[in-house]
Amino acid sequence: MSTLQAVTSNAFDAERIRADFPALHQQVHGQPLVYLDNAATTQKPEAVIDAIANYYRCDNSNVHRGAHALADRATRRFEAARETLSSFINSPSSRQVIWTRGTTEAINLVAHSWGLENLQAGDRILVSWLEHHSDIVPWQLIAARVGAKVQPIPVNELGEIDLQALDDLLDERVKMVAVNHVSNALGTVNPIETIVSMAHNVGAKVLVDGAQAVGHWAVDVQALGCDFYCFSGHKLFGPTGIGVLWGREDLLNAMPPFLGGGEMIETVSFEGTTFNSLPFKFEAGTPHIAGAIGLAAAVDYLGGIDREAAAAHELALLDRTIAATADVPGLKRIGASANTTAIFSFVLDGCHPSDLGMLLDEQGIAVRTGHHCTQPLMARFDVPGTVRVSYALYNTVDDVDRFVAALRKAQAIFAPR
Ligand code: ALA
Repeated sequence: MSTLQAVTSNAFDAERIRADFPALHQQVHGQPLVYLDNAATTQKPEAVIDAIANYYRCDNSNVHRGAHALADRATRRFEAARETLSSFINSPSSRQVIWTRGTTEAINLVAHSWGLENLQAGDRILVSWLEHHSDIVPWQLIAARVGAKVQPIPVNELGEIDLQALDDLLDERVKMVAVNHVSNALGTVNPIETIVSMAHNVGAKVLVDGAQAVGHWAVDVQALGCDFYCFSGHKLFGPTGIGVLWGREDLLNAMPPFLGGGEMIETVSFEGTTFNSLPFKFEAGTPHIAGAIGLAAAVDYLGGIDREAAAAHELALLDRTIAATADVPGLKRIGASANTTAIFSFVLDGCHPSDLGMLLDEQGIAVRTGHHCTQPLMARFDVPGTVRVSYALYNTVDDVDRFVAALRKAQAIFAPR
């Protein structure tokens, strides 16, 4: 079956999904918006916007502490959201679902709490060259404090983790392997089960940055076998400022609190303080209640969608993009793993990525340009940055064609041949 047939005969109806996302239906610079920056953040369906607005309209209250009807309603909805997220990732228990501001905070929580407790001078932390800065810098901060070392796991020309190199790096001094499930810059899907099994063989723990995975397919933390899994709501059609740290219960129980304050305590006195049980031990202060409720609405929304068909649809859009840009002079795709999400990251001869991004924007096409918070990866591929097209389930064949036409126009302006 040709790519075009694969797209058009797919039972998945992206146009119908698209109708649920109001922000997609607007003009920018006098052109209908083509939103291809989904790896940065996804747009929100009406169901999510309504859930947040209704919470503030009807139920707004603080959670876990009020003696009145609104507080009770807010608490029940907030905890129901935790249950929804727990089922969404197949967690054995909602006690293992910790609300955070997002993936970055979740990784920092583990680095500080687990890291300061478990890392010693001479220990090593492995992170891949594919990592976002948020899965490098927290480890560097902790490594500097304890005298441990952060070492990169090389990637090959396709943008895949080199498993032989990982094997060579692994020994009993490696205490943590931190990798993303999907590369935000290239789209590479990493073989997490394999990495987990290799790391566990030497007694290392594995943290997975799942920010770029959860928006594309169902994640099962038990099947992956990892020790920690982190993700953000806003890449999952939910609100910003809310995310999840999932961890193995024995590890979370043994970890000291990250932030101190209300909610995370059991008793406080000047002689000493005792801490709350999971998940509250890690949730100091008033949480992002509306965010949790909005994120659960996003998960409920996805529950009504055939996610396998959606993922196939997105990959068909990527295939169409690759085919349609194959003859664009001077275009080089960065990263070309067969195991990928629908990300098309590229550079164009004679044209800086940010200039190309501007020309695309003028034509209504929203992409991300730059280093994508992955400076080591950009250095690995010897590029200053890339132009990144990232598809989501509501993108269409028409979006691909509009992007390709705009790219050709920009290429002719910048680098005529
Ligand atoms: N991490 C986000 C991205 O890749 C912001 O664009």
